[in-house]
Parts: sequence; C-alpha cells; structure tokens
Amino acid sequence: MQLAGFGLGLRTPHYEAVLGETHAIDWLEVITENYLGIGGKPLHYLERIRERFPLVMHGVSLSIGSTDPVDLDYLATVKALAARIEPHWISDHLCWTGIEGRNLHDLLPLPYTEEALALVVARVGQVQDALGRQILLENVSSYLSFRSSEMSEWEFLREVAQRADCAILLDINNIYVSSVNHGFDPLLYLRTMPSDRVRQFHLAGHSDLNGHLIDTHDHPIVQPVWDLYCAAVAQFGAVPTMIERDDNIPELAELVAELQVARNLAARHARQAA
Ligand SMILES: [Fe+2]
Repeated sequence: MQLAGFGLGLRTPHYEAVLGETHAIDWLEVITENYLGIGGKPLHYLERIRERFPLVMHGVSLSIGSTDPVDLDYLATVKALAARIEPHWISDHLCWTGIEGRNLHDLLPLPYTEEALALVVARVGQVQDALGRQILLENVSSYLSFRSSEMSEWEFLREVAQRADCAILLDINNIYVSSVNHGFDPLLYLRTMPSDRVRQFHLAGHSDLNGHLIDTHDHPIVQPVWDLYCAAVAQFGAVPTMIERDDNIPELAELVAELQVARNLAARHARQAA
C-alpha cells in the first residue's frame, strides 16, 4: 500500500489524543531516536499507535555528511526498529551533526563541493546497503554558507539524490527560511528538484529575529510558507505532507486544524497525476 494524505509528527504530549483522532490524521511520522531503546512508555504507545496509523521514521543523527565512519551499530538499531514497526520509509537530513565521535545535536549545513558530494553519495550507498532499503534525505535550514561551495544547495541535493539513488523529503519551511537568510529564490529551488524523487513534504513554523529566520518549529505555519507549499503541490502533485511542531506544542486539535489548511490548499492547487 502506498502512503498518501496528511500526517503529523508524533509528539509525547499527544500519545493519548492521537488514538482518538484516527479519522483526522492519515499517518504519523516518528522520531527514530525516541524509540531505539528496548521498552518503556514510548515503545508501549508506539505499539498501540502503529495498530491504528501508517508510520514513517524520521532520524536526526545519521550525520550523512560527516567524515566519521558510518555508524553501523546505530544503523542496526534503526533497522531493528523498522522491522518492528514497518514504516513506509526512513528519512534523515542532508547535514552533519558531529565529528570524531562527538554529537553536536544540531543539523549543520555542508559545503556544497564536488568533494562533499562524493563523500555523501558514497555514504548514502553504505546506509542504504546496511538498511536494505532506499532512504529519504531532507533539506535543512541554514544560517551560514561556506565560501568554498561550488554549487547551490538545491543542485547539491538533486545530485546526491540522483547519484546515490535516494529519495527526497522536501521541507518547505526550511526552503523558505534559508531563502530569506541567504537571499535566493525559493521557486528556483523547487524547480530544480527531480519530481520522481520527491516523496514527502514537511511544513512547520519558524521564528523571525529581526528578519533573520530560525527554524524553531514553535509557531503556526506562516503565509509565505503556505504560498510556497501551493507552488510545490502545483509542481509535484499531492505528495504526502506533514506538520512538524516541536516546541510550544498546542492541543492536538489545533494541529489537526492546521493540517486541514494543508488539505484544502492541496485540493485546490495540486497538479493532477497524468
Ligand atoms: Fe523538517
């Protein structure tokens, strides 16, 4: 069965509430690292929730751009969780999160060079071999860029996906945040993406610090991000879409209402499949 429709990121305060919302949420995205233990309350809920909802797994510590060796122990635990909950796919971020064994717990941008591209492509191959499946990589938001970059972020992401044969999770808010911070055209970003590889959209809110945007996931989605989402669905069709909220987490009903906005916009603007 192919995954379709509109989802939310599963968050601890909503564990009970989502079980009563089986008609309003089509699927849930779970943060991989929250469920890599062997038991406890999170896994107890996850087992119940997976009986009612299709799931996808979203990781934050793959560190695909690091120069450290690929962490095969970590991947073995990810693979074991996937065997247990059968997600439709596994995603992580096009970034690095640490080096020499240190995890900085941040999704840091890469220099967009041929050298970094070759490194990431080789590592995606290792990861996909270890997991035995294709992964999705997500564009992160960024606040700085490297003078050594030889191509744009969108060219880099496209090349990674095509050369490594992986799929793309497009975060519409991250594209918008970075476009404001770095002064590029977010529509050019969308136009560069290979449509056959875009499998999921993320939507989220952010914080505006005097014109410098920070990807905080603590606000409702703003109008320019909705506008960009309309352009994305017009280009790629009704790709599975979800909302991420990680701070100032409201009642589930508020996120369900925000998800309805996405549904309505997609119904109005999505390119119809040929
Ligand atoms: Fe995201």
